[in-house]
Parts: sequence; structure tokens; C-alpha cells
Amino acid sequence: MTSIPEKGLFISRSLACLFAVSMLFLILSSMILFQFGDTSLVPRSIYKLIIVKRTPDYIKPDETRASFEHKSSRFLASSHKESGSTKYPIKSAICGQTQALLKVFMYDLPPEFHFGLLGWKRDRNQIWPNVSILNQIPAYPGGLYLQHSVEYWLTVDLLSSVPPNVSRPCTAILIQNSTEADVIFVPFFSSLSYNRHSKIHGNKKPTMDKILQVKLVEYLKGRDEWKRSGGKDHIIIAHHPNSMLLARKHLGSAMFVLADFGRYSSQIANIDKDIIAPYKHVVRRLVARDSPSFDERPVLVYFQGAIYRKDGGVIRRKLYLLLKDEKDVHFTYGSVSSGGVRKASQGMSSSKFCLNIAGDTPSSNRLFDAIASHCVPVIISDDIELPFEDVLDYSQFAISVRASDAVKKGYLLKVLRRVKREKWTQMWERLKEVANYFEYQYPSQSGDAVDMIWQAVHRKVSFVHNRVRRKNRYEMSQKFLDAI
Ligand SMILES: *[C@@H]1O[C@H](CO)[C@@H](O)[C@H](O)[C@H]1NC(C)=O
Ligand SMILES: *[C@@H]1O[C@H](CO)[C@@H](O)[C@H](O)[C@H]1NC(C)=O
Ligand SMILES: *[C@@H]1O[C@H](CO)[C@@H](O)[C@H](O)[C@H]1NC(C)=O
Repeated sequence: MTSIPEKGLFISRSLACLFAVSMLFLILSSMILFQFGDTSLVPRSIYKLIIVKRTPDYIKPDETRASFEHKSSRFLASSHKESGSTKYPIKSAICGQTQALLKVFMYDLPPEFHFGLLGWKRDRNQIWPNVSILNQIPAYPGGLYLQHSVEYWLTVDLLSSVPPNVSRPCTAILIQNSTEADVIFVPFFSSLSYNRHSKIHGNKKPTMDKILQVKLVEYLKGRDEWKRSGGKDHIIIAHHPNSMLLARKHLGSAMFVLADFGRYSSQIANIDKDIIAPYKHVVRRLVARDSPSFDERPVLVYFQGAIYRKDGGVIRRKLYLLLKDEKDVHFTYGSVSSGGVRKASQGMSSSKFCLNIAGDTPSSNRLFDAIASHCVPVIISDDIELPFEDVLDYSQFAISVRASDAVKKGYLLKVLRRVKREKWTQMWERLKEVANYFEYQYPSQSGDAVDMIWQAVHRKVSFVHNRVRRKNRYEMSQKFLDAI
């Protein structure tokens, strides 16, 4: 009888032995991987994976977001406090100029164009905050301002490519010599400038937002970097549809980072030269393992927002009249700003489909709220442009419906009811995977929104060089001939 426990003991011993040997093997092989450094045959993406795996998530994105929802302002500061630590993960030594995908030169614009707009208290002569110390980075204001905060995340990410101890993807890196740069970054917080300083207060003086735009155009047109390329290799962020209203027509040769092209003529902005960046979602992001499944989402279709909208937005009213009396449809008036963030969060995560209907601009943050809630987006906006669509197949996790079809009586619900549990679940699984692509955070992580935007810029670089060389063809030949 005693032989049975002994046998069990033997098996568990040999298992432990096997485990130890395989662990040793794993450790050895990863050490070898790192030692090869630059000359290794291992593709860099593997390094990236390893680096990311080693990164402790000392800012827990979901915790941060939850705290944002309650305290809304002081975004970075609150996440800093709650994580209870100022420790940065140690940055791997292998991200230098030769390893980075994209070399970026950034103008030292005076702080009034960027962190000064955040009420940053700086030392005299200081242009940039010290990003190695988390609580010295001024926080971006919360609430709806945060939707258009891409300008902020890209700038702090670039700054953090310099100090040796911030762990981030090796995608974009800041360099000092502009002639060696792939692109020139213009660090103007144009959306914040619009949101904070475009209101006219009685008198007829130009607003601060206008003054900054005029100054910016003057500054850029006077720079050698701009003259060299005609601005074609410059990156300008204008995510709020009304930002850069005055300056855009003077700077249209640059690469814009936008929410959509709704308020631009196609000469000034278009999909060939410009980049569409996600809004920062305002609802809480669901953790994948807590995401309600098909049967746990009682509502079929969810929409909450302003129903009366001008321009493309008339369709909202038509859809409202079609859907308002349907059971298992939640279609109501309400703005997210009026304390409705929590309710929207709850509503979307208990719905199978979330409508993203054109408003007074083709895009809105509702799409990104839906993605963060793992609610399959139904996009009804004929002129919308989707972020990263050159590398991302939206049909795997979203349904696009032409406006002319959506307003046909009975059409939309018929289509959505046809999507049964199995098909829906496939889209939901994909949503949980792609949600990270739309996540803005600091420090940036591989495959988040900041990283995806830099990669999108990188995909445009050869196109930019092509444009610059074509522009300078005769001038460069002349230089060559003169030198002979
Ligand atoms: C990062 O480096 C700076 C400069 O050496 C240091 O002062 C800072 O504390 C470091 N951050 C951490 C927490 O390791
Ligand atoms: C940033 O702060 C760290 C830690 O205090 C310091 O070592 C470093 O020199 C600072 N960097 C700059 C550019 O001031
Ligand atoms: C910048 O780079 C160019 C091209 O590599 C080089 O000719 C120039 O000397 C560099 N300028 C400085 C200030 O290092």
C-alpha cells in the first residue's frame, strides 16, 4: 500500500527536476539573446517584446483611468500618487539613434506654446519639464479636454526618449541635429490653446489662441528647417477640429495629426500626407478579463449623445425617431460632460453594439469609448477617417453602415440582430486585443496609441522625402554644379 505515495513522490521529484532544467534553459537563452545586441539576427520586434515583458506596470492603466473618472483633473499627478512610487523601470541600453525607427527633431518653442498653457511653474530659462521625475510633469486638464490630448502625450514621450531611465518603446527618438532628422516636430498644444484661450471677452482684442497661431507661423517661416523642406517634413498637431483655425492655411504643407478632415479643404489636409489619431476615450477602460460577454450585455444597441446636430448630424435625429421606441435599444439625449461618464461607461459595457453616428464633425470620441468598453462599434458616418486603417482591419471588430442604408426603416436592427453570439464573440475578442492601440499613457508602451502614431509617421517618411526631393531637385543640382 505504501508504494503508491512513494510513486507519487517520485513523479513530483522528477517534475521539479524537469522544471528546474527548463527554467535554466529559458534564462540562458534570454541572456544570449540580449548579449548579441545590435548585430544579432533576431528581429528587433522580439527585443521589443522582451523589453515590454520586463516592464513592470507601475502605472496601472485602469487604476489611472478610474481615478481620472472621479477626480478628472490632475491626471498624471493622481496616477502618480496612487501608484505610491516614483520608480521608473530601468531603460534597456539598446535604444539609440541607430536602433530607433524614427529620428525626430523638436523645436525649442517657448513654454507659452506648450507646458506654459498648463500653468507649469518652471525655473527661469527652463523650456521643458524634467520628465525623469514623474510629479514634475505638469498634468493635462481632465474632463472633455482630455479627448484631444494627443499633443501632450507625443511631446512627453519625445522628451522621455532622452533621460536614460525611462522605459518606452524604441520607436521615436529625439535628436539634436535637425539635418539628420526624419521629421521635425512642432510642440504646440493647439487643442488646449483653442479650448482655453479662444473665447472672446467683450473687447475686440485678438484672443490668446490667435496670437499664438500668428506667432507660430512667423516662427516656422523663419526657420531654416522649414525653408529646407517647405514644411513638408514637419509634424503639426491640430486634433480639436477648431484648433489652428487661423494658421492651418499657412502651414498646409506640413503633416497634420488630426481627428478627421471634416473642417479642412482637401488641399490643406488629406489622407495622403496627414495622420488620423484616436481621441482619448473618456469612459473607463474595461479590463479584458472583466469584460461582460454576449449574454451579460442585455442592451442590443446603445447611443447617448446630442441628438440635434448641424451638418452631417441630421442623421442622428432620423435614427432617433426610428429607434427610440424599440425594446433593447438605448437611445437617449445626454452629454458625457454633465457627470454622465460613469453612466455612459456602464451603458456601453452592458450593450452589444454601440452606435457612432456622425455629429457636426465626422468623428467623435464615442467610437473610442465603445472600443474601451468592448462594445462592438457600429459606424454610421460616411466621411469618417479611422486611425491606423492602413494596418488595422476595422471590419474584424466594427460594423460600418452607410448613412443612406441606416435610415431605411428596420434596416439597422435587422442587420444587427443577424449577428449571433458566435460572430459577435469573435468581434469582441478582437476588440479586447485592439483596445490597446487606442490607449494614451505615459510612459508609452509598445503598441499603444503613442507608439502607433509614431509608427504611422514612420510609414509616411519615404513619401515625405520624395516630396522634399522633388521640390528641391533643381536647387540641389545647381548646388552640385556650383561646387565643381
Ligand atoms: C532617473 O534618473 C534621474 C537622474 O539620474 C534620477 O534622479 C531619477 O530619480 C531616476 N528615476 C528613478 C526613479 O529611477
Ligand atoms: C532631471 O532630474 C534628475 C533628478 O533630479 C537630474 O538628475 C537631472 O539632471 C535632471 N535633468 C535635467 C535636464 O535637468
Ligand atoms: C548635423 O549633421 C550634418 C549631417 O550629418 C553635419 O554635416 C553637421 O555638421 C551636423 N551639425 C552639427 C552641429 O553637428
